[in-house]
Amino acid sequence: MRIVLGVAGGIAAYKAVLLLRLLREAGHEVRVVPTRAALEFVGRPTWEALSGQPATPDVFDDVPHVAHVSLGQSADLMVVAPATADLLSRAAAGRADDLLTSTLLTVRCPVLMAPAMHTEMWEHPATRANVATLRARGVHVLEPASGRLTGTDTGAGRLPEPAEIAAAALALVASPGAGGPSEPRRQDLAGRHVVISAGGTREPLDPVRYLGNRSSGRQGYALARTARARGARVTLVAANVALVAPAGVDVIPVESTAQLREAVRAAAKDADVVVMAAAVADFRPVAPAVHKIKKRDDGVVEPIALEANPDILAELAAERLRPGQIVVGFAAETGDDGADVLAHGRAKARRKRADLLAVNAVGEGVGFAVADNAVTILDAGGNVVAEAAGTKDFVADALWDAVHSLG
Ligand code: CTP
Repeated sequence: MRIVLGVAGGIAAYKAVLLLRLLREAGHEVRVVPTRAALEFVGRPTWEALSGQPATPDVFDDVPHVAHVSLGQSADLMVVAPATADLLSRAAAGRADDLLTSTLLTVRCPVLMAPAMHTEMWEHPATRANVATLRARGVHVLEPASGRLTGTDTGAGRLPEPAEIAAAALALVASPGAGGPSEPRRQDLAGRHVVISAGGTREPLDPVRYLGNRSSGRQGYALARTARARGARVTLVAANVALVAPAGVDVIPVESTAQLREAVRAAAKDADVVVMAAAVADFRPVAPAVHKIKKRDDGVVEPIALEANPDILAELAAERLRPGQIVVGFAAETGDDGADVLAHGRAKARRKRADLLAVNAVGEGVGFAVADNAVTILDAGGNVVAEAAGTKDFVADALWDAVHSLG
């Protein structure tokens, strides 16, 4: 596996030397990208000798190879350790002022950051906000360890032990489909065309307002990324997603349910697998206003008549736009007094007749807009086929395994 190890300028940079050794000993190719400040702590010869590769902080050092792009495109995993307050800030802002931050913008693989800094800096609202931003984008930011810091002071902010960082980083790419962390991905979806819907549809109320939902599109994008990595041709129908498209995937942007339905159905004519990961609006205004709806002086608000949207997943499962096509759905459930999450999922699986239905619990802090997910995969009869909990890429791989086992 090709790993990019970013090292920012903190005293804990010396521990990244041990991390580099661990990753090399596990058989991985590691390219170290230090910041200029990191080289104040550990010099370039150390990084180059132990990695066997050039270690430059500068985008202007290897111009013929356009290093920041080539490194990012070929990486299977990126680890930044230590991630200093400054590095977290630059990464959160999307800056590209050295080779490390430029590479962070070009990678499409999982990224793990291991912060290390003084407790005050770690607890500062600016750092908290930067960490929250990075996590919301799917970056895995470890919690720092507590203990002795640079001087005699102690507190939260220590770099976790190198073995811990290596294990956490390799776990991001170890998945049922990966065949083990150091092995290349199985190309078990090669020759297959998969269509994935992602994000959340928006139904216009008037030219400026819409009815929508909080889906970020991350699970759908993870499905697209992992399917591509396993050799599939991927069409991604993306409803209002603010994420960077995975490399090598065809993206069709849409807004409303009608647009999503049309795009999915057109692509599905030629698809072996269709996965409906989008959160589709169940209702739409019967007649969206042509002009912006005005506030009335008497304070009365006109009711807005809604009508049901077609159930795209149920239609696809009933019609099979291409013979033998596998149709997969997601079910976001909260559970209620009448039934738990799984019971609702089972009922939905039987109702929609998709070949597979990935049921996940949603609500405060679970499912939507967070990096991790947990699903139970059911067949059309509501029987449990598999369970998976972890990163959205991990869950995506588990779903592709279930698809693969259907033939
Ligand atoms: N879905 C769809 N078309 C719709 C609504 C949902 O294709 N009009 C798909 C979703 O993409 C997902 C699955 O159906 O794959 C389940 O979505 P969910 O919102 O959980 O189910 P609903 O059918 O909307 O049922 P309810 O909201 O009553 O739970």
